[in-house]
Amino acid sequence: MTSKAFIFDLDGVIVDTAKYHYLAWRKIATQLGIDFTPENNELLKGVSRVRSLDIILELGKINASLEDKTKWLIQKNTDYLSYLVDMDESEILPGVLPILQFLKDKKQCIALGSASKNARPILEKTGLMAYFDVIVDGNDVTHAKPNPEVFLMASKILNIKPEHAIVFEDSVAGIQAANIGGMTSIGIGNES
Ligand code: BG6
Ligand code: MG
Repeated sequence: MTSKAFIFDLDGVIVDTAKYHYLAWRKIATQLGIDFTPENNELLKGVSRVRSLDIILELGKINASLEDKTKWLIQKNTDYLSYLVDMDESEILPGVLPILQFLKDKKQCIALGSASKNARPILEKTGLMAYFDVIVDGNDVTHAKPNPEVFLMASKILNIKPEHAIVFEDSVAGIQAANIGGMTSIGIGNES
Protein backbone atom coordinates (compact mmCIF):
# COMPACT_ATOMS: atom_id res chain seq x y z
CA MET A 1 0.00 0.00 0.00
CA THR A 2 1.23 3.53 -0.81
CA SER A 3 2.24 5.43 2.32
CA LYS A 4 -0.08 8.24 3.24
CA ALA A 5 0.33 11.37 5.35
CA PHE A 6 -2.50 12.39 7.64
CA ILE A 7 -2.19 16.09 8.41
CA PHE A 8 -4.29 17.61 11.18
CA ASP A 9 -5.09 21.25 11.79
CA LEU A 10 -5.05 22.09 15.53
CA ASP A 11 -7.55 24.78 16.50
CA GLY A 12 -11.09 23.50 15.92
CA VAL A 13 -9.96 20.04 14.84
CA ILE A 14 -7.94 18.67 17.76
CA VAL A 15 -8.95 21.13 20.47
CA ASP A 16 -11.82 23.59 20.77
CA THR A 17 -9.62 26.64 21.13
CA ALA A 18 -11.67 28.79 18.74
CA LYS A 19 -13.75 29.91 21.76
CA TYR A 20 -10.61 31.20 23.53
CA HIS A 21 -9.36 33.00 20.41
CA TYR A 22 -12.81 34.58 20.19
CA LEU A 23 -12.87 35.76 23.82
CA ALA A 24 -9.40 37.28 23.51
CA TRP A 25 -10.14 39.04 20.21
CA ARG A 26 -13.50 40.26 21.48
CA LYS A 27 -11.77 42.08 24.36
CA ILE A 28 -9.57 43.98 21.91
CA ALA A 29 -12.54 44.69 19.62
CA THR A 30 -14.66 45.98 22.52
CA GLN A 31 -11.78 48.22 23.58
CA LEU A 32 -11.83 49.66 20.05
CA GLY A 33 -15.61 50.11 20.03
CA ILE A 34 -16.18 47.26 17.55
CA ASP A 35 -19.10 44.86 18.02
CA PHE A 36 -17.33 41.56 17.29
CA THR A 37 -19.90 38.78 16.85
CA PRO A 38 -19.48 34.98 16.71
CA GLU A 39 -20.30 35.29 12.99
CA ASN A 40 -17.39 37.73 12.56
CA ASN A 41 -15.21 35.21 14.40
CA GLU A 42 -15.73 32.68 11.59
CA LEU A 43 -13.63 34.99 9.40
CA LEU A 44 -10.65 34.46 11.70
CA LYS A 45 -10.61 30.66 11.68
CA GLY A 46 -7.43 29.28 10.19
CA VAL A 47 -6.12 32.81 9.68
CA SER A 48 -2.80 34.01 11.16
CA ARG A 49 -2.72 36.22 14.25
CA VAL A 50 -1.54 39.27 12.31
CA ARG A 51 -4.17 38.83 9.58
CA SER A 52 -6.85 38.30 12.26
CA LEU A 53 -6.13 41.72 13.76
CA ASP A 54 -6.24 43.30 10.30
CA ILE A 55 -9.67 41.73 9.67
CA ILE A 56 -10.99 43.12 12.97
CA LEU A 57 -9.62 46.57 12.18
CA GLU A 58 -11.19 46.39 8.70
CA LEU A 59 -14.54 45.50 10.34
CA GLY A 60 -14.25 48.60 12.52
CA LYS A 61 -12.86 50.70 9.65
CA ILE A 62 -9.90 51.60 11.87
CA ASN A 63 -6.49 52.67 10.64
CA ALA A 64 -3.91 51.84 13.29
CA SER A 65 -0.20 52.50 13.69
CA LEU A 66 2.29 49.64 13.69
CA GLU A 67 2.96 50.44 17.34
CA ASP A 68 -0.70 50.03 18.32
CA LYS A 69 -1.04 46.87 16.26
CA THR A 70 2.01 45.35 17.96
CA LYS A 71 0.57 46.26 21.37
CA TRP A 72 -2.81 44.64 20.57
CA LEU A 73 -1.18 41.49 19.17
CA ILE A 74 0.78 41.07 22.40
CA GLN A 75 -2.31 41.78 24.50
CA LYS A 76 -4.40 39.28 22.52
CA ASN A 77 -1.84 36.51 22.87
CA THR A 78 -1.26 37.15 26.58
CA ASP A 79 -5.00 36.96 27.18
CA TYR A 80 -5.36 33.87 24.95
CA LEU A 81 -2.55 32.09 26.82
CA SER A 82 -4.31 32.80 30.13
CA TYR A 83 -7.19 30.57 28.94
CA LEU A 84 -4.72 27.76 28.22
CA VAL A 85 -3.11 27.67 31.67
CA ASP A 86 -5.35 24.88 32.94
CA MET A 87 -5.71 23.08 29.61
CA ASP A 88 -5.44 19.29 29.78
CA GLU A 89 -6.53 16.19 27.82
CA SER A 90 -10.19 16.87 28.68
CA GLU A 91 -10.16 19.57 25.98
CA ILE A 92 -9.34 17.15 23.17
CA LEU A 93 -12.32 17.08 20.80
CA PRO A 94 -14.39 13.87 20.59
CA GLY A 95 -13.09 11.27 18.15
CA VAL A 96 -9.56 12.68 17.95
CA LEU A 97 -7.81 10.18 20.23
CA PRO A 98 -9.32 7.06 18.59
CA ILE A 99 -8.35 8.33 15.12
CA LEU A 100 -4.79 9.19 16.16
CA GLN A 101 -4.42 5.82 17.90
CA PHE A 102 -5.86 3.96 14.87
CA LEU A 103 -3.42 5.71 12.50
CA LYS A 104 -0.53 5.07 14.89
CA ASP A 105 -1.44 1.36 15.11
CA LYS A 106 -1.51 1.22 11.29
CA LYS A 107 1.94 2.86 11.24
CA GLN A 108 0.71 5.82 9.17
CA CYS A 109 2.51 9.18 9.08
CA ILE A 110 0.82 11.80 11.24
CA ALA A 111 1.54 15.52 11.02
CA LEU A 112 0.26 18.74 12.50
CA GLY A 113 -0.28 21.62 10.08
CA SER A 114 -1.37 24.65 12.09
CA ALA A 115 -1.28 28.43 11.67
CA SER A 116 -0.85 28.81 15.42
CA LYS A 117 2.40 29.81 17.08
CA ASN A 118 1.06 28.20 20.27
CA ALA A 119 0.70 24.70 18.81
CA ARG A 120 3.51 22.97 20.68
CA PRO A 121 2.47 24.02 24.22
CA ILE A 122 -1.11 22.96 23.41
CA LEU A 123 0.03 19.50 22.24
CA GLU A 124 2.15 19.18 25.37
CA LYS A 125 -0.68 20.20 27.72
CA THR A 126 -3.11 17.77 26.08
CA GLY A 127 -0.56 14.93 26.08
CA LEU A 128 -0.74 14.50 22.27
CA MET A 129 2.85 15.32 21.34
CA ALA A 130 3.93 11.69 20.93
CA TYR A 131 1.34 11.00 18.20
CA PHE A 132 2.90 13.45 15.75
CA ASP A 133 5.81 12.51 13.51
CA VAL A 134 6.06 16.08 12.25
CA ILE A 135 4.84 19.43 13.56
CA VAL A 136 4.64 22.42 11.24
CA ASP A 137 3.12 25.52 12.80
CA GLY A 138 2.90 29.29 12.54
CA ASN A 139 6.53 29.62 13.60
CA ASP A 140 7.73 27.68 10.55
CA VAL A 141 5.86 29.24 7.64
CA THR A 142 6.01 32.57 5.85
CA HIS A 143 2.69 32.26 4.02
CA ALA A 144 -0.57 31.81 5.95
CA LYS A 145 -3.48 29.58 4.85
CA PRO A 146 -5.05 29.59 2.21
CA ASN A 147 -1.47 29.36 0.97
CA PRO A 148 -0.67 25.62 1.14
CA GLU A 149 2.86 26.13 2.52
CA VAL A 150 2.13 24.64 5.96
CA PHE A 151 0.73 21.39 4.52
CA LEU A 152 3.30 21.11 1.70
CA MET A 153 6.10 21.52 4.25
CA ALA A 154 4.64 18.75 6.41
CA SER A 155 4.27 16.30 3.51
CA LYS A 156 7.74 17.16 2.23
CA ILE A 157 9.34 16.44 5.62
CA LEU A 158 7.45 13.13 5.70
CA ASN A 159 8.59 12.43 2.13
CA ILE A 160 5.01 11.86 1.01
CA LYS A 161 3.65 13.34 -2.21
CA PRO A 162 0.84 15.92 -1.75
CA GLU A 163 -1.61 13.66 -3.63
CA HIS A 164 -1.07 11.06 -0.91
CA ALA A 165 -1.80 13.51 1.91
CA ILE A 166 -5.14 13.81 3.68
CA VAL A 167 -5.82 17.06 5.54
CA PHE A 168 -8.34 17.46 8.38
CA GLU A 169 -9.48 21.08 8.62
CA ASP A 170 -12.30 23.12 10.16
CA SER A 171 -11.65 26.43 8.37
CA VAL A 172 -12.43 27.61 4.87
CA ALA A 173 -8.87 28.99 4.52
CA GLY A 174 -7.47 25.60 5.56
CA ILE A 175 -9.63 23.59 3.15
CA GLN A 176 -8.61 25.97 0.36
CA ALA A 177 -4.95 25.51 1.32
CA ALA A 178 -5.22 21.71 1.17
CA ASN A 179 -7.04 21.82 -2.17
CA ILE A 180 -4.57 24.30 -3.69
CA GLY A 181 -1.77 22.02 -2.47
CA GLY A 182 -3.27 19.09 -4.37
CA MET A 183 -4.22 17.17 -1.22
CA THR A 184 -7.41 15.46 -0.12
CA SER A 185 -9.30 17.67 2.35
CA ILE A 186 -11.74 16.56 5.01
CA GLY A 187 -13.91 19.29 6.52
CA ILE A 188 -14.56 19.07 10.26
CA GLY A 189 -17.38 20.83 12.10
CA ASN A 190 -21.03 21.68 11.85
CA GLU A 191 -22.77 22.33 8.57
CA SER A 192 -23.92 25.94 8.44
C1 BG6 B 1 -5.33 29.15 13.79
C2 BG6 B 1 -6.65 29.66 14.35
O1 BG6 B 1 -5.20 27.78 13.99
O2 BG6 B 1 -4.23 29.82 14.42
C3 BG6 B 1 -6.73 31.16 14.21
O3 BG6 B 1 -7.72 29.05 13.65
C4 BG6 B 1 -5.52 31.80 14.90
O4 BG6 B 1 -7.93 31.61 14.79
C5 BG6 B 1 -4.24 31.24 14.29
O5 BG6 B 1 -5.55 33.19 14.74
C6 BG6 B 1 -2.98 31.80 14.94
O6 BG6 B 1 -2.94 31.34 16.25
P1 BG6 B 1 -1.95 31.89 17.38
O7 BG6 B 1 -2.10 30.89 18.50
O8 BG6 B 1 -0.58 31.88 16.80
O9 BG6 B 1 -2.40 33.25 17.72
MG1 MG C 1 -8.69 25.32 12.61
